[in-house]
Amino acid sequence: MVPPERPRRPFPTYVRAMRVLLTGASGFIGSHIAEALTAAGHQVHGFDLRTGQDVRSPDDVARALAGIDAVCHQAAMVGLGVDMSDLPAYASVNVQGTAVLLAEMARAEVRTLVLASSMVVYGEGRYTCDRHGAVRPDPRAEEALRAGHFEPPCPACGNPLAPGVISEDAPLDPRNVYADTKLAQENLAASWARATGASVTALRYHNVYGPRMPRDTPYAGVAALFRSRLERGEAPQVYEDGRQRRDFVHVRDVARANVLSLQTTHTGLRAYNIASGEPRTIADMAHALADAYGGPDPVVTGGYRLGDVRHIVASPEKARRELGFTAQVPFSEGMAEFALASTGSAR
Ligand SMILES: NC(=O)c1ccc[n+]([C@@H]2O[C@H](COP(=O)([O-])OP(=O)(O)OC[C@H]3O[C@@H](n4cnc5c(N)ncnc54)[C@H](O)[C@@H]3O)[C@@H](O)[C@H]2O)c1
Ligand SMILES: [Zn+2]
Repeated sequence: MVPPERPRRPFPTYVRAMRVLLTGASGFIGSHIAEALTAAGHQVHGFDLRTGQDVRSPDDVARALAGIDAVCHQAAMVGLGVDMSDLPAYASVNVQGTAVLLAEMARAEVRTLVLASSMVVYGEGRYTCDRHGAVRPDPRAEEALRAGHFEPPCPACGNPLAPGVISEDAPLDPRNVYADTKLAQENLAASWARATGASVTALRYHNVYGPRMPRDTPYAGVAALFRSRLERGEAPQVYEDGRQRRDFVHVRDVARANVLSLQTTHTGLRAYNIASGEPRTIADMAHALADAYGGPDPVVTGGYRLGDVRHIVASPEKARRELGFTAQVPFSEGMAEFALASTGSAR
């Protein structure tokens, strides 16, 4: 009799301890990755501008790569970019910095890279039209937004679209300078991997939140902006009608995805959505934070920002299948912890 086939494990059960160079180690996500790597028995070598090391400096990078098995590249200038005067800084840190890192990795023969990418490489999410099937809506027109028409119409017939789930093979369509630089990082890493036979795992994080999320700045994520308002006793201001959908993934889950990725190598670049798989609306998120904080209730303003995408919801399937990654922190628990983390208590 043929024995039943045993389920294939997505990653090896025995994992060798690695010496990992972690760029952006002092940042929000990097600091959690450092903890997760250490807990998994790996040796972390932190690298960050805040501790005097610059990814754009070949000398700094070459020195840091000595004796390293794998690199986890989180260092970047983040946020959407406030105005065009930010353009050179984004290109310099994100594109030039990654180019220097890859050149030095080639020289040092370090062949494993995990790259922090982003859902912003997709632009708008996936939509289908009853008549035209899968379509890519254009950026929404200002007059439509002003009139409160927030759902993007079918580019062919103008009919309403049904939002769907985006998978990694979706067309890439970066729509701002930050997104351009995140896609450039993936492209440079893919070329480097083709030329050297190396392994790149590009993790397209969705909306990451959790302890140590950067505070209220023009570059901050929406969860941090809402929390800052709650701390000032002000209602979170929700744009559009609040029904825009996102995937909020907890930073400890993101850190675990990085550990799993470092332990899984292949040849060339593979990209993965790192998401919870449980989409929420922005209004849901504002309510979860306000409830945990003890008010005030969010206000839906109908305001908008040009260039914001309407829905972007990810399929977490490929990461589950190939990395063995599934998000574990439940939305309500994660948001409650985040709401209270800064003050230590509800009012
Ligand atoms: N936070 C999110 O929701 C999110 C979503 C998608 C992708 N990402 C990506 O995740 C990564 C980490 O983001 P984060 O949210 O932790 O941001 P962060 O700003 O908290 O951390 C980035 C770190 O990089 C460091 N850094 C910047 N320029 C550097 C340089 N030239 N040399 C060395 N270090 C430098 C900064 O000092 C900082 O500590 C970034 O690559 C970002 O693009 C974040
Ligand atoms: Zn149509």
